[in-house]
Amino acid sequence: MSSNWASWNNPGNGVWKADSSTLDLTVEANFQEASAWVTAVVGRPCEGHERRVAELTLKLAIAADLIHNERDVRQIVWAGLLHDIGKAAIDPRILNKPAALTPAEFDVIQQHPGLGYRLARTAPQIDDETLDGILYHHERWDGEGYPMGLIGESIPLLARLLKVTDVYDALVSDRPYRAAWTADEAATYLLQHSGMAFDPRLIQIFAYRVLPFHQQQGFPLD
Ligand SMILES: [Fe+2]
Repeated sequence: MSSNWASWNNPGNGVWKADSSTLDLTVEANFQEASAWVTAVVGRPCEGHERRVAELTLKLAIAADLIHNERDVRQIVWAGLLHDIGKAAIDPRILNKPAALTPAEFDVIQQHPGLGYRLARTAPQIDDETLDGILYHHERWDGEGYPMGLIGESIPLLARLLKVTDVYDALVSDRPYRAAWTADEAATYLLQHSGMAFDPRLIQIFAYRVLPFHQQQGFPLD
């Protein structure tokens, strides 16, 4: 891995050497705090997809040596749980449409990162890096994403992590318009779109160091 690869918060510091119980407690405390905030603000608890994205993003960040302190854990948990909170402001008939979206409907969907950013910004305990993760989680490495069309490393690292895990979990889940893909099918899709939709370094780590162990007991955070 490139020597200039570093945590978004602490480029000069080493990997956090927390024991697993300390890490688990930190993760769970943040899950509870963020879930309570979501429930209070949008009137429903965090959903399975949001929790899985947060957990998978932690695994990816750990595998990539990107966890340098408790703040990194906190930002991943909060951004994972809140990344789609803007969808609470979007018509569920569009969100759950069991068919292809019209261009106008897709325009509406594309508003959810910005809506989520503005909603999350109202919480004093959510910091700028977490907000950036929410706002930019649909940017693509090749610049063809939304809402800003950022390219490559100009996309905040937290958002690049979320992009990988969000798409993976969406692919292996049933959606109104298609059945779930297998884990192998989803991994193949990610590898085929490495360097286009996704940060290629993160895809290598996710496909070869996270997914093979994802379902096994004893892997960190399982
Ligand atoms: Fe999203």
